[in-house]
Amino acid sequence: MKKYLFIGNWKMHKTLKETESYLVNFLEKLIDLELLDREIAIAPPFTALFLAKELVKNQPLKLVAQNSCWEEKGAFTGEISPFMLKELGVSLVILGHSERRHIFGETDEIIAKRVWGVYKFGLIPILCIGETLEERQAEKTLEVIESQLKEGLKYLKEVRGDDLVIAYEPVWAIGTGINATPSQAEEVQSFIRKKLAEIFSSEVAERIRILYGGSVTPENIEDLMKEPNIDGVLVGGASLEVEKFFKICSIKINKRTQVNTQISLPNYSNLPQEILEIPKKYRRLVIVGASPKSDRPSYIVMDYLLKQGFEVLPVNPAYKEILGQKTYPSLEEIPPEFKPEVIIIFRKSEEVLPVVERAIKVNPKVIWLQEGIYNKEAQSLAEKEGIKIIMNLCFKKVHMMGKKDKNF
Ligand code: 13P
Repeated sequence: MKKYLFIGNWKMHKTLKETESYLVNFLEKLIDLELLDREIAIAPPFTALFLAKELVKNQPLKLVAQNSCWEEKGAFTGEISPFMLKELGVSLVILGHSERRHIFGETDEIIAKRVWGVYKFGLIPILCIGETLEERQAEKTLEVIESQLKEGLKYLKEVRGDDLVIAYEPVWAIGTGINATPSQAEEVQSFIRKKLAEIFSSEVAERIRILYGGSVTPENIEDLMKEPNIDGVLVGGASLEVEKFFKICSIKINKRTQVNTQISLPNYSNLPQEILEIPKKYRRLVIVGASPKSDRPSYIVMDYLLKQGFEVLPVNPAYKEILGQKTYPSLEEIPPEFKPEVIIIFRKSEEVLPVVERAIKVNPKVIWLQEGIYNKEAQSLAEKEGIKIIMNLCFKKVHMMGKKDKNF
């Protein structure tokens, strides 16, 4: 499931003592925060990472580094390697920050190497891109963004999506108190998503988190987070104070519905009501007989649920991956800790009973069978175990929709 990401970039601030008192306070506040839909992280200076690692042990707070070299070791005076960062418990790394580009002269080439190097070591690169005021005034924003994005990612051949983050930080908004308006940020961020879909694929682009950074405060965070393509924020100044950063991280997120963006999303209104209501009741599902073909009901249902941020595991022995999700050859092989609440079975009538028997062993709350399938024996088996079984779930309309709608 794609989670919102809130990162506090401390830049060149805080001694060891200050780090300790900040983290002790912040972690105490975090205890009361529901973190189901979001991840929270801080990027202290390198000198405080070791101490931070000790303090955040077993806590829901991730560590971010502010830069990294691409090599494991060697003659790179003044640099720190991704290997060393891993040792310090770091999981994400900020790269190409505008201060690195404009004060320290880092080029697109250097940044691309850093992104690739960090990725190669299993850390998540956060590629920062953004236009200057002059570029915006000369109406070059999208051109600059496209070029920084393509250049910065040029050595990454394939990504899953959850292993890469992009941060849009307009240079004119950093540390100035003038944030981009939500619609300015959304315009650029939906453009970034479209370009990511061209570079990788639309499924991967959907999974990449795109953050906004530049004068984020407790006052403007709620409106920024309403935008469909703002998946989180990179906060500078306001993250230096525990109260302010905690306020930012704890806001209620109400996304506005996506209209007029450059990415066309399919219309899911033809899905059966039961499927549309899944997000209200459940979080983890398994789809047996998941198809990699975009016009099949199982694909459409899975696509819908993944876009709602739900965890879905496909079971299909013939494929390695469907919609970017690793597939499992059989119900027995899904990880025991996944504990699905719903199992949807897309199988022919004659194959249904043995699959239901195996599904019962996984102990979900509900088992669903696709349309046209009534199986009395399966029904009594499931009900005996206290599992609700829904048979003949109508997917006809989904099927029609898949065939007609080229967006799938
Ligand atoms: P401010 O929030 O201080 O504008 O800084 C933004 C930033 O550069 C985060 O990386």
